[in-house]
Amino acid sequence: MADHNDLIVVYVDEAQGSDLTGNGSIDTPFQSPVAALTAAGLHAMVHSRKTPNETYEPLGTSALKKAKKIVELNEKKARKADELKAKANAENAERSAKEAKRIEDSKNVVLEEDPSLPPAMKTKIRGCTSLRMKRVRISGWVHRLRRQKGPTFIVLRDGTGFLQCVLSDRLSQTYDALTLATEAAIQITGLVQEVPEGKSAPGGHELIADWWGVLGAAPSGDDAFSNRLNAESEGNVLADNRHLALRGEVAASVLHVRAGVLSAFRKVFEAHNLTEVTPPCMVQTQVEGGATLFKFDYYGQPAFLTQSSQLYLETCLPSLGDVYSIQESFRAENSHTRRHLSEYTHLEAELAFITFDELMTHIEEVICEAVSMVLAVPRLAAMLKQLHPEFQPPKRPFLRMSYKNAIKYLNEHGIQRKDDETGRFVDHTVGDDIAEAAERQMTDELGVPIFLYGFPKEIKAFYMKKIPGDEAFTESCDLLMPNVGEIVGGSMRIADMDELLAGYKREGIDPAPYYWFTDQRKYGTCEHGGYGLGVERFLAWLTNRYTVRECSLYPRWPGRATP
Ligand code: 4AD
Repeated sequence: MADHNDLIVVYVDEAQGSDLTGNGSIDTPFQSPVAALTAAGLHAMVHSRKTPNETYEPLGTSALKKAKKIVELNEKKARKADELKAKANAENAERSAKEAKRIEDSKNVVLEEDPSLPPAMKTKIRGCTSLRMKRVRISGWVHRLRRQKGPTFIVLRDGTGFLQCVLSDRLSQTYDALTLATEAAIQITGLVQEVPEGKSAPGGHELIADWWGVLGAAPSGDDAFSNRLNAESEGNVLADNRHLALRGEVAASVLHVRAGVLSAFRKVFEAHNLTEVTPPCMVQTQVEGGATLFKFDYYGQPAFLTQSSQLYLETCLPSLGDVYSIQESFRAENSHTRRHLSEYTHLEAELAFITFDELMTHIEEVICEAVSMVLAVPRLAAMLKQLHPEFQPPKRPFLRMSYKNAIKYLNEHGIQRKDDETGRFVDHTVGDDIAEAAERQMTDELGVPIFLYGFPKEIKAFYMKKIPGDEAFTESCDLLMPNVGEIVGGSMRIADMDELLAGYKREGIDPAPYYWFTDQRKYGTCEHGGYGLGVERFLAWLTNRYTVRECSLYPRWPGRATP
């Protein structure tokens, strides 16, 4: 820009000037007259040129007029925007002040329980059905919260169920009501009433509150529960926040079903005359191969976390008769599959004086009876319906397929295995360990529970009894379920002392630490067999979960032992 007879002259080069970086001088001109007038004011003289070869000339009258008009319009718009912004700021400030006052005033709204009302009966949410039209006192956590102009609606959760609670008038005007956030723990009293026709609520009723109070507040804002965890949260976030994820409906339903399943199995075992025992978790013998042992130092001696309580159960037979245990088992498997945990709940049973056929029948009975028992509990049946709408109890008898026939099936259906050495896919041959993928494909194709039995002795544990007359194979069985694969592994056990000693030898196991297990064969040996069922795998099948990790309270897998 330059002064020219007291007037500011501002330069515009339509070809090479820039409205962004120009300043109106002859060296760094603007590109448009509008930018020039905006910067220098409406009274400035605009000298412009269309191409760099021309000399600068005063801008023509009509072009100047047009540019001035646009500048005036822009200025008007800017003024308007400033006005609006100022108004919005003032309104916001007023609203904030009002809200602050409302919150301040709310501290004066103090709720007292009305002593003229009948005493409130302390109950859990599940007890409300039988307490309709009675005054009750309930404590729980705010699962959902909806504030309306008048009342506040809370869906309360206490582990036994969900209850809609209505806070009206003064009850929704207290400081606690205004600052309430989901997951706060509260206590509430009021009348349980059937919901009006056309409205729905859990249990068909709602609590019309006459008093309430916060027992343990929860934060809102950045630290609000929904910011810690929500439907979009990724796997690692979910795993780190498992303690909070447990509060979700799906996780809680799976755990309720889990409790129902454990209770059902216990009842079924009792009905079948099996006695519960609790074997140790710290052991000095292996059961299922050294490769998956968690080893630790036990007062200077090597020890392991148990892989299976089977050997201990066997020792109980002459003392208690048939026995079972529900105990954690540990496997140091570096498997990141959806059916492997490093620690899992192992339901194991051992039965004396049975045949292999009786063992498989028993497993089938126990599973079917436990499933019907769970389905007979209306609350669990409802949860299962939500989790796994298509679930059908398995039909007996289960399909029984020998290992040899399974190999045939795989080859006839083009299900191949990957050869370790060549990396190529090849047909299965008798003697192969059927890999998880092949087993799963076959199970999913058949779509029913399958007892796969009679595995070669080389791929099975040292304690398994051989099939009389076909000694290269064992009286062993895996129960395979669609979508999950193996949920049970069982077998008849070697009853004969010499055969057992040969089994140790074959697997390269030192028999010395097994003296107590070997003694079983010395003092009144008997034909016996048993099995182990992975509780999380059973649940993954029953509740249709993608992974066993969802079926464990705090799952452990390689690299994960937190929370
Ligand atoms: O087939 P497994 O290894 O058999 C035994 O441990 C026997 N000693 C049991 C017995 O006869 N008493 O394991 C039995 C079951 C499997 O079928 C599977 O359901 C589960 O335990 N299981 C696992 N579940 C989750 N994660 C793992 N890493 C598992 N390993 C086995």
